[in-house]
Amino acid sequence: MTDYFDTEEAIRRWDSFANTYANNATEQGDLHREVFLNPTLFSLMGDIKNKRVLDAGCGEGYLSRILSKSGAKVTAVDYSPTMIDLAKKRRPEDEPIHYQQGNCEELSFLEDASFDLIISNMVIHDLAHFEKAFQEMHRLLVDGGNFIFSILHPCFITPESGWEKTKTGEKLHWNVDQYFYEGVYEQPLGDKERMLFFHRTLTSYINGLINTGFTLEAVIEPMPSKEMLKKYPSFEEDFRCPDFIVFKVKK
Ligand SMILES: C[S@@+](CC[C@H](N)C(=O)[O-])C[C@H]1O[C@@H](n2cnc3c(N)ncnc32)[C@H](O)[C@@H]1O
Repeated sequence: MTDYFDTEEAIRRWDSFANTYANNATEQGDLHREVFLNPTLFSLMGDIKNKRVLDAGCGEGYLSRILSKSGAKVTAVDYSPTMIDLAKKRRPEDEPIHYQQGNCEELSFLEDASFDLIISNMVIHDLAHFEKAFQEMHRLLVDGGNFIFSILHPCFITPESGWEKTKTGEKLHWNVDQYFYEGVYEQPLGDKERMLFFHRTLTSYINGLINTGFTLEAVIEPMPSKEMLKKYPSFEEDFRCPDFIVFKVKK
């Protein structure tokens, strides 16, 4: 764990990892998105036809493409220039997705109250200043608009967490330590990169939302559905504890 890395270093690492990340992405994102995150996000969104939607931290853009195909008017931002280039290249000609490079902590190039819905999928834990991002999302939403975001579950994915295993590799239980540490830590992703994640407690997330002026509408700790378990039986172990948590809040 270390205290001296910030959002700029986190995005530098994302940028150098962008091509590898995009090469592994499917039109559903990846397996965890297909099994846990996409069904949860879409169950919370409701009808998005003709809604002005911001995909905040869009990566290579799979979710923007799904949103646009579902009839939403999509703007998508990512702070990594390489991710934005990749997303633009993958945009089908008939999908008018508007991509722009920008830091979710400071999106002054976007107008106040210009979105009905904001989705941010697995991005907020990449930010050194998550409260600033909450304030920006609040500013960008119309009154009554929703902000839906998924993050690593802060109660279970901490700077020191992981399976306790027997010598033969059998998973005994999931260990959690350093829950009350709030700050940055490094996490291997892919073969070479060590990404930066910013951990904070569930209390900090919820108080951050309340202090920004949001009303909490729903919280989901996604589990695999029967259909997904049939398709991918190894996700059975995800009934033991959740990796993700998804919030739906209203302005
Ligand atoms: C785990 S990826 C998720 C991408 C996409 N939402 C998805 O689900 O496929 C995290 C993304 O957040 C972007 N990101 C990280 N920090 C950011 C920031 N401060 N502002 C905007 N985007 C950021 C990264 O460049 C990366 O594309």
